[in-house]
Amino acid sequence: MVVVVVTGRGGAGKTTTTANLSSYLAMKDYRVLAIDGDLYLPNLGFHFGIENVKYTVHSLLKDPSIEPEWAIYKHPHTGVYVMPGSSNLHDVIGISPRRLVEVLERVKSRYGVIFVDSPTGIPFDTLPTFEVAGYQIIVVEIERSPIYSFETMVKNEVEKLKVIGEKYRLQIGVVLNKVREAEDVVEHIIEAVEEDLNVPVLGWVPLDPEVPEAVNAGIPVVRYNPKSDAALAFADVGEVLEKWLFG
Ligand SMILES: Nc1ncnc2c1ncn2[C@@H]1O[C@H](COP(=O)(O)OP(=O)(O)OP(=O)(O)O)[C@@H](O)[C@H]1O
Ligand SMILES: [Mg+2]
Repeated sequence: MVVVVVTGRGGAGKTTTTANLSSYLAMKDYRVLAIDGDLYLPNLGFHFGIENVKYTVHSLLKDPSIEPEWAIYKHPHTGVYVMPGSSNLHDVIGISPRRLVEVLERVKSRYGVIFVDSPTGIPFDTLPTFEVAGYQIIVVEIERSPIYSFETMVKNEVEKLKVIGEKYRLQIGVVLNKVREAEDVVEHIIEAVEEDLNVPVLGWVPLDPEVPEAVNAGIPVVRYNPKSDAALAFADVGEVLEKWLFG
């Protein structure tokens, strides 16, 4: 089961969401692989403290003779299998994102769930993987804006990514992240997304300073500080996600 994670805008929290939802499921004994599909600006490895490793997703895209397993590292604190990217600029040049599908095909049967962290906006790097994916999670940050209402902004962002997911017949769900708004405002936005766009909202996660702290520690916040607000929220989203994926 392959889940792609996307956002309309940078920094909304795709990688954080990928890291935490994969950790949540791994801690519930699923075999979970998290792949960094953000080929230009990969940072999934950073969220797991996996850096400066020899083999990365980039190595696999460059040289098909490299075994995918060589680029997969088990995160000791959560049990998530992580396929990080390379932040070396030279590794980004001359690789074919199409090959990511071949990599997925080769490892797919060995994992219960595979998350593919994607680049911002139209996810050109990971679009080919949408063909083998079943689910798309759209992460949205609600941003204060004097021009639009929250509702219009969120709907606008979700709508564009929804069209892409639908084209590939993916099941689509939304996660609201870095929420600073009052609960009633959030409830209102959730209602607008679910009723007007007909997309389920899997949950929402508050803005919480524990998140960047956890990133710096290389341990996703659900494991780093399970009692923090963000961790509790990610666990709630994880529970909904588990039902969504496995019934
Ligand atoms: N709920 C949250 N509370 C506080 N900080 C958060 C939260 N979610 C994410 N962040 C912080 O916001 C920053 C961006 O998050 P993240 O890297 O997950 O976003 P992204 O959508 O993957 O960004 P990019 O477009 O760069 O790939 C990180 O520094 C992260 O620690
Ligand atoms: Mg990211």
